Amino acid sequence: MVDHPMQNDALHQVLKGMIDELIAFKEYRVRAYLVDDNETASVYDDIAYEEVEHIGEFLKLALELDPKFKEHLLMGMRENKSKPTPEVEDEIEEVSE
Ligand SMILES: [Fe+2]
Repeated sequence: MVDHPMQNDALHQVLKGMIDELIAFKEYRVRAYLVDDNETASVYDDIAYEEVEHIGEFLKLALELDPKFKEHLLMGMRENKSKPTPEVEDEIEEVSE
């Protein structure tokens, strides 16, 4: 692994943890979607949403560690008043069925 100047910075580690949890969430959702057994799919789906709880834990830390992170997160949420495109809505429907 390449040394990064921020590797020991708490916010850097928190963001890395959040990214890892997002990847885990996505992977479990994909497995839930692809498996052909409903019980197994349900277990993968439950685990996927447990990862979202971990994302929330890291998000709370990021909000505490960097006031600008919160400021810009809220700015982004307020700016995004647009609806998803029909293609994105279709993709969400397909994955969530
Ligand atoms: Fe996790």
